[in-house]
Amino acid sequence: MAYEPESVWEFSTARNVTFGLGAADELGDVVEEYDAESILVVTDAGVMEAGVVDDVTDTLDPDSVTVFHDVEPDPSLDVFEAARDAAAAVDPGVIVGVGGGSSMDVAKTTSVVHEHGGDILDYVAPPTGGGQAVPGPGVPTVCLPTTAGTGSETSPVTVISLPDEDLKVGISSRHQRPDAALVDPGLTVSLPPGPTASSGMDALCHAIEAYVTRRYDAKPAPESRSDRPDYNGRSPVTDLFAEKAIESIGGGLRNAVNNGENLEARRKMSLGSLTAGIAFTNAGLGVTHAIAMAAGAIHHTPHGVTIALTLPEVMRFNASSAFDRYADVAELLGEDTSGMSRVEAAEAAATAVERLSADVGIEGGLSTLDVSEDDVEHVAERASTLQRLLTGNPRRVDQDDLEEIILRSL
Ligand SMILES: [Fe+2]
Repeated sequence: MAYEPESVWEFSTARNVTFGLGAADELGDVVEEYDAESILVVTDAGVMEAGVVDDVTDTLDPDSVTVFHDVEPDPSLDVFEAARDAAAAVDPGVIVGVGGGSSMDVAKTTSVVHEHGGDILDYVAPPTGGGQAVPGPGVPTVCLPTTAGTGSETSPVTVISLPDEDLKVGISSRHQRPDAALVDPGLTVSLPPGPTASSGMDALCHAIEAYVTRRYDAKPAPESRSDRPDYNGRSPVTDLFAEKAIESIGGGLRNAVNNGENLEARRKMSLGSLTAGIAFTNAGLGVTHAIAMAAGAIHHTPHGVTIALTLPEVMRFNASSAFDRYADVAELLGEDTSGMSRVEAAEAAATAVERLSADVGIEGGLSTLDVSEDDVEHVAERASTLQRLLTGNPRRVDQDDLEEIILRSL
C-alpha cells in the first residue's frame, strides 16, 4: 500500500485556564459551577505545611473539603491507590490538585479511576498494565500548580513509579486533562531556589523538545482518529506556545532563582511552564525525556536536574537534523546569531542552555547524580524502549547514539 502521511493535527488543553496573581482566589467560584457537596483536595505534606492548602481552600465551604496530603515525589502505585481509597470514602463531586506535578498527577488519575472503577494498573499500557482506555470523563478536576515546571495542569499524562521494578509507567488519556487550571504565580513564591531551578529547566526542555519534535505531517496517518497519539507532532499552534515558553523562561529563570519574591520573574516562569506544557502535551517530547525517565526509574535521579544535565548534549546530537529550529531557540534565549553559520547558531543554543543551567546552580554532569560509566548501557537500553518519546525526536537515534549522549553528559 502506498505511504499515506498524516494530514491533520489536533490541539487540546484544559477546558479553562485562568492565569495571574490572584487566580487561586477564584477556586471557590470555579468549584461552584459543579455544585459539589464533597470536594477532595490532593496535595503533599510540604505544600500543606507551607500553608498553601489553607490559603486556596479558604474560598471553599470547610464542611465539604477533605484533604489527602500523602502525595510523595515520584508517587508510587501505593500513593495512587491510597488517593483512590480516599476518594471512595467521600465520593467527591470535584477533585482539586494542589502542588507540583506529583500532586496534580495523583488528582487526575484519581478522578478517572473513581469515576470508572477498576485498578489503576488497568489503565497503564501493557506489558505492565491492562492497556484499557479511559472510557470517558472523570470527576471534574481543578489543578493549581505550586511549581513552574511540569505542565501537569493541562496535560493528559500521569506518571506512576513502580519502585520494586525500577520502573516508571504512565497513563495517557484525553480524559485526564483537567477541567480547569488556576495558574497563580503567587503560589510559587515560597518554592526554594533548588526546586525553582530544576523545575524551570524541565519546563525549558518541554518547550525546546516540543519546538524541534517531528512535524505532525512527517509521519504515517493513523488508522482512525482514536489511534492518533496525544503527542501528535508539532504544528503552527504548538510552535506559538513553545516560542513564548522559551522566551519567557530564558528571561525569568535566573531572577526567580535568585530572588523568589520577584513577582515579575515568577510570572514569567509560571507563564513559561504553562505554555511549555500546552506545547509539549500536543506536540511531544524527545530524547532528553527518554533518558531522564530511564535514569529516574533506575537511579532515582531527580527529573528536572537530570533533564538540565542532559539537554545540551541532546541538542548537539540533534542539531544536524534541525539547524534552523535550534537557531531560533538561540535567538529566543537572547543570543545574537546574526553572522553565524547555521552550525554555529545551533551550537549557540546548546551553549545558552548550558550557561542558564550553570547560572541557576545545575552543573557538573550526570556523574554528580551517581550515574557512572558502568550505568550508561543500562540507562540507554531502558531509554530506547520509550518509543512514545523517541518517535518524535528530530534525528533518528539508536542504542549507540543514546550511550554516546549519556557518556557526554556524565
Ligand atoms: Fe519533564
